[in-house]
Amino acid sequence: MKKHWKTKLIHSDASVPEGFRSLDTPIYRASTTLFRDAASVTDAWDQYESGYTYGLYGTPTTLTLAARVCELEGGYRTIITPGGQNAIALINFALLRAGDHMLLPESVYGPNRKLGNDVLRRFGVEVSYYNPTVGPAITDRMQPNTRLVWCESPGSISMEVQDVPAIANAAHAAGALVAMDNTWSAGVFFDALAYGVDVTMQALTKYVGGHSDLLLGSVTTKDKSIYQSLGAAHQLLGAAASPDDCSLALRGMKTLAVRLERVEKSSLTIARWLAARPEVERVLHPALESCPGHELWQRDFTGSSGIFSIVLREGFTKEQVLSFVNSLELFKIGYSWGGVTSLAVAYDFGHYKNRASYDHRIVRLNIGLEAVEDLITDLEGALHSLNPS
Ligand SMILES: Cc1ncc(COP(=O)(O)O)c(C=O)c1O
Repeated sequence: MKKHWKTKLIHSDASVPEGFRSLDTPIYRASTTLFRDAASVTDAWDQYESGYTYGLYGTPTTLTLAARVCELEGGYRTIITPGGQNAIALINFALLRAGDHMLLPESVYGPNRKLGNDVLRRFGVEVSYYNPTVGPAITDRMQPNTRLVWCESPGSISMEVQDVPAIANAAHAAGALVAMDNTWSAGVFFDALAYGVDVTMQALTKYVGGHSDLLLGSVTTKDKSIYQSLGAAHQLLGAAASPDDCSLALRGMKTLAVRLERVEKSSLTIARWLAARPEVERVLHPALESCPGHELWQRDFTGSSGIFSIVLREGFTKEQVLSFVNSLELFKIGYSWGGVTSLAVAYDFGHYKNRASYDHRIVRLNIGLEAVEDLITDLEGALHSLNPS
């Protein structure tokens, strides 16, 4: 067909040499995905079964990231979501229905709790909470309608390490499934699916992304029927992840091991240094004995990452704790973690019922890739400012 230049803009006959090879996964952006012929048009979501049908269900870039996460976590399939919180929501919407009961640890990531309280309850799901260190005694919290038990280990901010295999055994015995937020371990330091978890999620935003510049989540399962439920919910929630972000996450993944090695080492050095400071009452780092559940971390984990908390000594006022954080120069103040920049955020546990009584004295640190001696100097200066001479 002879084409007008305007048509050529859309339907070009220009060509480039074939055979290009590089080390990276190309970024395939797409909403529309082309079908071979009119009869093969289908809106099926499982691209492994149907071939590519629509960008929402993943382009080769998205599915490559999914497959790579799945390989690391030892799953059957992984679904990529537009953020970690969306991965949590996907699990809940896929696996729960009105009349079901869900159990969350008191130490669960705040928005997971809020989703249960503010949204799922509106849809008839019963939500209750358990002490994260309960272990096998979670049996006592199971109800005939308990369908889903969440674990997050270590817990958000207060860092309690959970007896996940014991909780999984008890949940399964009562006919419930177990979901786990495995973000802290970057999906590599704790083999959740091998320890009995049915479905894991990670905020890839943190360590896999690794540079504080993207939001992505992953949901992984070993179970084909759970995957079917997740895929169907993912389709209807329309939780499309950006292939550009997936490309960044694939790049981040290549350096995950070296970044983790470095933040693990720096964090341990800093955690031990802080534990010896008179201003610090307790260091909540799973690799230190002062952390609740430390022995479970030793038993079940193969490493530790770079986010942990400190509890300042009793007697320091909230203003003093905030001014400690404000005095830090290298540690920046901001949410999210797992990036290359060290961060500090003060929390007030006075607002939470049933959580450890650390009041306003708990500060969470994210250790980045700066020189560890500079980070210690920064902390030393800020701690010093707590002790007016
Ligand atoms: C433990 C945990 N899970 C999930 C999330 C949610 O991830 P995102 O920020 O990608 O939604 C966060 C974010 O801070 C988190 O700390």
